[in-house]
Amino acid sequence: MKVFVTRIIPQVGIDKMREAGITITQWPEKRDLTQEELIFHCQQHDALLSVGPNKLDATFLQQVQHLKVIALLSVGYDIIDIEAATKYRIPVGNTPGVLSAATADIAFLLMLATARKAFYQHKKIGTGNWGFYEPTANLGIELYGHTLGIFGLGKIGFELAKRCMGAYNMKIIYCNRTNNTEAETAFNAVKVSLDELLQQSDVLSVHSALTPQTRGLFNKTAFSKMKPTSIFINTARGAIHNEEDLIEALQTGTIWGTGLDVTNPEPMHPDNILLTMPNVSVLPHIGSATVETRNAMAELAAANIIAGLDNKPLPYPINLLD
Ligand code: DGY
Repeated sequence: MKVFVTRIIPQVGIDKMREAGITITQWPEKRDLTQEELIFHCQQHDALLSVGPNKLDATFLQQVQHLKVIALLSVGYDIIDIEAATKYRIPVGNTPGVLSAATADIAFLLMLATARKAFYQHKKIGTGNWGFYEPTANLGIELYGHTLGIFGLGKIGFELAKRCMGAYNMKIIYCNRTNNTEAETAFNAVKVSLDELLQQSDVLSVHSALTPQTRGLFNKTAFSKMKPTSIFINTARGAIHNEEDLIEALQTGTIWGTGLDVTNPEPMHPDNILLTMPNVSVLPHIGSATVETRNAMAELAAANIIAGLDNKPLPYPINLLD
């Protein structure tokens, strides 16, 4: 059995698949495959371990129907048409749970960096603009006792709430379709409507999946309901916020600041005005980028490949085939 892996992934995942007798081809180039190249390679293999931006849409899946399994090296699965994969009876798996702490760390980092304008201040030093000490300049805002609003409170949001409670005794509110009773018990988290979340949050952090319902949800209308002192954080998917509206909200003082680990498009263009704004912190989608987490993700993806090639149910499935 042969698997095609679209990037160099941590060796621990490769070793695990090799030990299971699987032959592995890894795409070695530091560029994305074209769709044609991806289809070509999939046609020579029995399984796909996919990393990166290639859209695994219905047209793609129709041409690789023979695949016995597709494993994603991510928890998010907006890249793949799950309905089509299910129609072609291709099991698809992801890497849930193992990246929650690392991603929550990045959300926390962005929150604090934005509150203290840390990225902007850092850049000033390198350009010789440390500046004259003025007691009224360079002022950030403090977070103690403020309200953290979580949009999509799952495992990552839970980890962020834990950090914000521990560090700053923040009040936790959240907007979900269903109650998160674990968070309600652990943090006295209160479920609110989207409007209430927008109106009451001092820091609003997005942790939902990208779906047709959440695409562009944080737009001009949403930002206009937020406090002028609030910070908007997105570590989920860039397409959940409207970038033009976000820039306008910052320029007009509708909201105070933003911290982004995800942008739309990715990579963000180096001339993007967001990169010049004091109350903005941007990172290049590194939420899960720790040694421990990437190793764990590679192991989970390998486990999905091994099970799929063995005609067994995937340990971390997205679609359930009966
Ligand atoms: C995920 O796992 O979804 C991360 O955002 C990496 O893409």
